[in-house]
Amino acid sequence: MGLKNFVASYSSRHYDALRSIFGESLLGRLGVRRYWYEIDGWFHWRSAQEEAVSSFPDGSRFVEVGTYLGRSLCSLGEVVERSGKNIGVIGIDTCRGNGPEGWRSQDYHAGAVQNGGGTFAGTLHKNVLDCGFGDKIVLIISDSVSASRLFGDASLDWVHLDARHDYASVKADIEAWLPKVKPGGWLSGDDYDTQKWPEVVKAVGDVLPCAKPWSNQQWRWIVGNADNAD
Ligand SMILES: C[S@@+](CC[C@H](N)C(=O)[O-])C[C@H]1O[C@@H](n2cnc3c(N)ncnc32)[C@H](O)[C@@H]1O
Repeated sequence: MGLKNFVASYSSRHYDALRSIFGESLLGRLGVRRYWYEIDGWFHWRSAQEEAVSSFPDGSRFVEVGTYLGRSLCSLGEVVERSGKNIGVIGIDTCRGNGPEGWRSQDYHAGAVQNGGGTFAGTLHKNVLDCGFGDKIVLIISDSVSASRLFGDASLDWVHLDARHDYASVKADIEAWLPKVKPGGWLSGDDYDTQKWPEVVKAVGDVLPCAKPWSNQQWRWIVGNADNAD
């Protein structure tokens, strides 16, 4: 392993320790950054991000709804950066968590919300900055449906939904974002899992009956493609 790779690998594994010793500004000047896989969260669709980035051209715009602390969002930033393409990435989150949900009524985000005094917006923004995407990823702290109104119809290439998992929320998210995606663009989402998140599967099936399973427990709808074939 060359020196540069060693420093990159060491600094990514020990970013927090290095930050407490040297301070952020020095780390920034040395080019030491954080990596998406050091951020807490739930993310397993990197291959979907890679497919999206290789499928859409320069000038495209992607939206991720439900960023939590930025794990999937910063991965997308990295995939775009490595591609050399000029693709806009926008992350949207209330930064107040999903609240209790699922069969165990678990509140997965309560700790992060509480640590930030009722919002994890500060942590999300900091994570995006630490990963080096402060000028590349746009964050919108908002409810999904309200944020969708900021975008023109048929103005986005890929919208990926990963917010709440109940039937009404998934249906509302799909209905709000579907008109915003260009013909040929993709509307997709996480947690396409009959066992764990049956309401996601039911809402997708009811609103987009030809949506297909995609990547790793994702679903996808290709807009304007009647039978939704790839
Ligand atoms: C499952 S987490 C997202 C995980 C994330 N993609 C990751 O990489 O770890 C769901 C997120 O959706 C957000 N959320 C819930 N309801 C929302 C809504 N109506 N609009 C926007 N964000 C919402 C929550 O605050 C939470 O951060």
